[in-house]
Amino acid sequence: MLSPAFAEGAPSRGRQDFRACAPCHSLRPDRNMTGPSLAGVWGRKAGSLPSFERYSDALKSSGIIWDDRSLDGWLTDPQAMVPENDMPFEGIKDSHARADLLAFLKEATKPGAQQQTAQQRGMKGMGGMGGGMMGGMMGGGHDPNLKGLEPAKQVKAIAYCHDTYRVTTADGKTRAFWERNLRFMTDSSQDGPEKGAPAIMPAGMMGDRAAVIFADPEEIAGLIAKHC
Ligand code: HEC
Repeated sequence: MLSPAFAEGAPSRGRQDFRACAPCHSLRPDRNMTGPSLAGVWGRKAGSLPSFERYSDALKSSGIIWDDRSLDGWLTDPQAMVPENDMPFEGIKDSHARADLLAFLKEATKPGAQQQTAQQRGMKGMGGMGGGMMGGMMGGGHDPNLKGLEPAKQVKAIAYCHDTYRVTTADGKTRAFWERNLRFMTDSSQDGPEKGAPAIMPAGMMGDRAAVIFADPEEIAGLIAKHC
């Protein structure tokens, strides 16, 4: 049964509210980031998506089935509903905002919904707020896909000297980073880089920090040459 608050929810406003979730949650099936993919979450047992391997014991043993009511409780105050769960999110106290978000999510997490939004995105192209926002949100914060990036983002070589990494990209440019401003990461998913072709992504407002993302941890040491 729909609660009165839920029935009032406006998906268009909920789409905006989802920006609070998108850094951690994708709506694409099995696209897991900090948190599990939310595709198909209605009717799912809490902590049960097989492809997500980082659930807390607390969530896995909660016995919750996700529906309008339980999701409303979760989003109000996750820690009150499932003590010691691992979702770093304090909750949404405004019941209207929760209703909007749930109205949006219920549509956007339905099986097949992401193919539709991808088509809409294609039609809207780059123009308008709608297209841009959807592109930023739907895949979540850690897209874009790291295969076939422009040459300025493809790492060819990394030299390490004293406290400095020098990163050379496929466009022939070399940039220097203080060693504590460069992070090394991996993305083994289908959105990750090709093997042997790590990507560099800016991480700081000032351009002083970046992350190099590899397909496999085994590549990391091999690519970094210690010389001055
Ligand atoms: C900082 C990262 C982060 C943010 C922001 C975040 N989540 Fe989560 N979420 C997680 C993690 C991590 C888990 C897994 C928690 C656990 O296992 O205890 C989770 C779990 C969930 C689950 C349970 C899924 C399942 O498979 O059982 C739902 C539903 C959910 N989040 C919805 C949301 C919504 C909606 C928002 C935005 C209002 C949000 N989350 C914001 C990280 C986040």
